[in-house]
Amino acid sequence: MANNVDQLKQQVALAAVKYIQPYLKPDAIIGVGTGSTADLFIDALSQHKQQFKAAVASSKRSAERLRQHGITVLDLNQVETMPVYVDGADEINPQLQMIKGGGGALTQEKIVASVAEHFVCIADHSKWVETLGAFKIPLEVIDSAKQAVIRQLQHLGASQVTERAGFISDNGHPILDAAGFALTDARELEQAINQIPGVVCCGLFAQKPASVLLLAKPDGVQTISL
Ligand code: 5RP
Repeated sequence: MANNVDQLKQQVALAAVKYIQPYLKPDAIIGVGTGSTADLFIDALSQHKQQFKAAVASSKRSAERLRQHGITVLDLNQVETMPVYVDGADEINPQLQMIKGGGGALTQEKIVASVAEHFVCIADHSKWVETLGAFKIPLEVIDSAKQAVIRQLQHLGASQVTERAGFISDNGHPILDAAGFALTDARELEQAINQIPGVVCCGLFAQKPASVLLLAKPDGVQTISL
């Protein structure tokens, strides 16, 4: 029985590879996310690298790990469609809406996920919440717009917005972490944040939630879909 978080992440990574087996075809491009759970998924996926053509990664970190395993990594511009994108989350609710971007890769994650037909979220049970928002919402922003964005976020109800110290995204932008919203309607909040000039991407993934969640619990991996 898996108990600690690392064991649970390992278990869900293996379950994800099993789950996506039907999508592993000679011409298939697999979308791959970012984070410690995604890292374990990459390691497990590498055992099946002969079964698919290539991957698209949501970060330089994941691209590097994929290449180290001998998996071809394509730029998203070279790819029209992907059957599946597999990634972790910082929080996920029963509507399979997520907060993502704890690793700062939210923009690429949202873009790659938007091109994939299915988003398979892989998470240990510590990420499961009834209501999103205990985890601060990450936002990738244009550097010169930081203060203007912070004022707008406060207007939308944020009680605390901090800049992630010393962190610059793969796209060259700073990340803000925003807390304190009344998150009763995550779709509406995501839309409102998306309207703020200077916001490159919002770490709320509510308008396009995951297609399925593989949730690792001490008694096994549960598959949850809407
Ligand atoms: C990175 C992410 C990750 O998916 C999220 O932070 C979960 O990470 P981990 O698997 O390490 O718990 O959104 O930007």
